[in-house]
Amino acid sequence: MAGIAPNARSRRIEESATLAISAQAAAMRQRGVDVVSLGAGEPDFPTPGPIAAAGIQAIEQGNTRYTAAAGVPKLRAAGARWLRATFGLDYEPAEVMVCAGAKAALHMALAALVEPGDPVLILAPHWVSYPALVTMADGVPAVVPAVPEQGFVHDAATIAAAVRRHGARGLVLNFPNNPSGAVPTRAQLQAIVDVARELDLWLVSDEIYGTLLYDGAVHVSPAALPGGRERTLVVSGFTKSHTMTGWRTSFLAGPQPVIDACGRIQSQVLGNACTISQAAMLTACEVPLPDDQARRQRAFGERRAFLLEALADIPGLALPAPRGAFYALVDARALGRARGLDDVTMARQLLEQHRLAVVPGSAFAAPGFLRLSYAVSLDQLREAISRLRAYAEAK
Ligand SMILES: Cc1ncc(COP(=O)(O)O)c(C=O)c1O
Repeated sequence: MAGIAPNARSRRIEESATLAISAQAAAMRQRGVDVVSLGAGEPDFPTPGPIAAAGIQAIEQGNTRYTAAAGVPKLRAAGARWLRATFGLDYEPAEVMVCAGAKAALHMALAALVEPGDPVLILAPHWVSYPALVTMADGVPAVVPAVPEQGFVHDAATIAAAVRRHGARGLVLNFPNNPSGAVPTRAQLQAIVDVARELDLWLVSDEIYGTLLYDGAVHVSPAALPGGRERTLVVSGFTKSHTMTGWRTSFLAGPQPVIDACGRIQSQVLGNACTISQAAMLTACEVPLPDDQARRQRAFGERRAFLLEALADIPGLALPAPRGAFYALVDARALGRARGLDDVTMARQLLEQHRLAVVPGSAFAAPGFLRLSYAVSLDQLREAISRLRAYAEAK
């Protein structure tokens, strides 16, 4: 007897490249190797005290039972207020549900929107999980190549041509972008929304980095633009901005019939997002933490400025200025060409020869690039850059 085997769909799902690199770096560290890891997309600050305290209080008060699948009504209402105050989005509480992290929100959104076999456009460079999430929803991921020469923001004509070529029914957007840090202007985004309207596409907009911005960049949600709200599901929350990564909470907002469908799916596969975490998220919505947020903003700003300056004079490398999130997508194409190496090999050599973990751009459909996360201390970043420089300058 052959025993059990994973099905064809699960065989198409690859392990997350970023988690794999972080795990490899952690294993080396455990063996006593002093690895600097710029692999993980997780802030190095703790969850703010008042948010953590709300979770502790929930436990102490016995607020530890099931909630409604779509989340505690009070939190859905607070989410609607927070989305309005933060991004100018106009949702009723019934149009906002609570999910277990942006990842789970994306899964519910795609499970509710994708018809089996639907092509779904994903704009490169893209966060590693989108193709797998589309595959899990029985859709077919169709990746539109990256446009580094356009600051990583696709123009409407390119997107429209790709929609027609693939017969796409939907489009996943992610601004501020992981890995490029791209933030489109309002006009650029409006042009994308206009394409979606013209070609009758749904949009899933992953805005998990929506409050992490630099150089005066402004985050605009497609759902806040004319023609956007009725065809968009917005994914948002505090995992990245408030280091609530382990709490597993997020908001998913959109037209009520689709949110109701997402709620039904969630009720069957998950139940509710962790009750204790929902109490903590309510505090994140309702209690402004200006000092904490300013401290983070300052730290990320310093690190980003350091990287921009340092990478300006490392041979073969260049850094297009990221405008949001906390990633630097380093253009290593010149170095790769000079050495006859691809980005995967360069990342492997950096880890093995210089004990520096970065993620090869290929993991994000940006071959020739290397992604550095600057959610680490400035000291670590300095050490990382000296290792990167040693690698790039080696004969
Ligand atoms: C673009 C993007 N979306 C979603 C996620 C997942 O976030 P969460 O921890 O809220 O599930 C990440 C995490 O790296 C991300 O970079």
